[in-house]
Amino acid sequence: MNSSVKIVKQLKDNYSYIIYSNESKKAIVIDPSEPKPILDFLKDTNLNPVCILITHHHSDHTQGIDGIIKDYERSVYTPNNNIKGTTDIIIDKQILDFEFINFEVIATPGHTLDHVVFYSEKEKILFSGDTLFYYGCGRIFEGTYEQMLNSLNKLKNLPNDIKVFCGHEYTTKNIEFVLNEIMHKEGGEIEKRKIIEIIEKNGSSMPFDLGHQKDWNPFLNCNDTQYKRSIVDFYKNKGLINKDSSELEFFTYIREKRNKF
Ligand SMILES: [Fe+2]
Repeated sequence: MNSSVKIVKQLKDNYSYIIYSNESKKAIVIDPSEPKPILDFLKDTNLNPVCILITHHHSDHTQGIDGIIKDYERSVYTPNNNIKGTTDIIIDKQILDFEFINFEVIATPGHTLDHVVFYSEKEKILFSGDTLFYYGCGRIFEGTYEQMLNSLNKLKNLPNDIKVFCGHEYTTKNIEFVLNEIMHKEGGEIEKRKIIEIIEKNGSSMPFDLGHQKDWNPFLNCNDTQYKRSIVDFYKNKGLINKDSSELEFFTYIREKRNKF
């Protein structure tokens, strides 16, 4: 990997990210919320931000734009003209070339209609915003459940060996939800302890391996026979879902239960 990623904790449980090259000292800021820790890191590390990238219009991912461009007047790439500070609109499949790193923009509507994620094939990293979380996925605010499911399936098609950086630290709650409400999963309690230890040690569970989540994240497995069986047989399923239910019905069932958890 030619670039490094700085994880910047924001607000209660948000993440912004700074991806940068140690060689050229160029940097990209993703989803800034609170400018101060971002600006401090840029200055302390002597980095030159080349742009800001935004995954979607929610204020906890955009409210720091102003504070950054006050100090660094740079391009702000967003998927939505209504986001204040936008200089360039980005669309699905667009390639963003920043010399030290290239990103492919992948549209992932569902959480919001404008949501995009940033994928670097070469660096094997994905910034998934509020679409894919560790052991979870974003709440569906603007799109349909079908849109969100399709978006997650797009991400599932990416290679296993990529590191994912998502928009929130929801991991502990997500795995608790899966194990308490959705299914019994062999080795689940060990996984949960592992996560808790990682967060205690590093202060964050980011990043996570996509390949691992293809095995462990129920939102990526709504069409998997084994998962379906476990979900149907789980004692908390009171006949709401059955083995003949569709992928979309399984997805909706899990997501709606997560909304209430
Ligand atoms: Fe959001």
